[in-house]
Amino acid sequence: MTATIAPAGVQITGLRKSYGSNEVLKGIDLTVNPGQVVCLIGPSGSGKSTLLRCINLLEQPNGGTIHVAGFDATDEDVDVDAMRAHVGMVFQQFNLFPHLTVLQNCTVAQEKVLKRSRAEAEAVARKHLSAVGLGSFQSRYPVELSGGQQQRVAIARALSMDPKLMLFDEPTSALDPETVGDVLAIMRGLAQDGMTMVVVTHEMAFAREVADHVVFMDRGVVVEQGHPDQVIGNPKEPRTQDFLRRVLDPTHVEVSRDTASVRTIENS
Ligand SMILES: Nc1ncnc2c1ncn2[C@@H]1O[C@H](COP(=O)(O)OP(=O)(O)O)[C@@H](O)[C@H]1O
Ligand SMILES: [Mg+2]
Repeated sequence: MTATIAPAGVQITGLRKSYGSNEVLKGIDLTVNPGQVVCLIGPSGSGKSTLLRCINLLEQPNGGTIHVAGFDATDEDVDVDAMRAHVGMVFQQFNLFPHLTVLQNCTVAQEKVLKRSRAEAEAVARKHLSAVGLGSFQSRYPVELSGGQQQRVAIARALSMDPKLMLFDEPTSALDPETVGDVLAIMRGLAQDGMTMVVVTHEMAFAREVADHVVFMDRGVVVEQGHPDQVIGNPKEPRTQDFLRRVLDPTHVEVSRDTASVRTIENS
């Protein structure tokens, strides 16, 4: 895949974020060293997306500090556009521009933000589209592609900006099961090439294999973090154990809750 990736890390301390009176991040500390892959795991609503979105200031934090790709993101004078140019983001729902071709999706920000010429932007885009196996799809529109192909375009689009850091928010959660592997393989390759990555995912096998560090979040706090063999393989905290039991065995039945509901029905 890509040859030269300038490394850059993330350093977050005491990060707080509220929506109205609902505090969804309650003092998060997180370090991502250059070249590291950090996977964020945890139940729905625990604040994973909010944390990721604070890193590139798609959400404005209410407290704490964030340093990313050499920028002080929480300095009120930070050049947000310059900072974001170094941070690629891939969303669950792809967020491609539907009215642009695959190639145009990958060139528009290069031309507008990085001021590259059309020819240069197209050359860069073609390189990344080929690397994700979509070299022959340049003239297609997103609607003509499968979900997995669209997500690969989204990754190629992000990489076309030469990011120092890539943020992934559940990149495979909206995909048909048979296309998940293609996207994970591309992410694995990026990690091997030394890209710094923060990945929100429910793919525990991927996290265990690829992550240098796993962070388990619940209700706005980091409950447990460490090496994947520890956090996923041998979790210490009951909340982590309970979450992993449910994620790793989706057919697992919460016996106590079930008998409670059965009782309720019997008693009514
Ligand atoms: N734009 C928003 N406005 C109000 N509440 C929000 C907004 N975005 C997220 N939340 C709330 O913040 C909490 C954390 O959400 P989120 O970060 O999306 O969690 P996760 O990604 O772990 O599922 C949830 O209770 C959610 O309802
Ligand atoms: Mg989320």
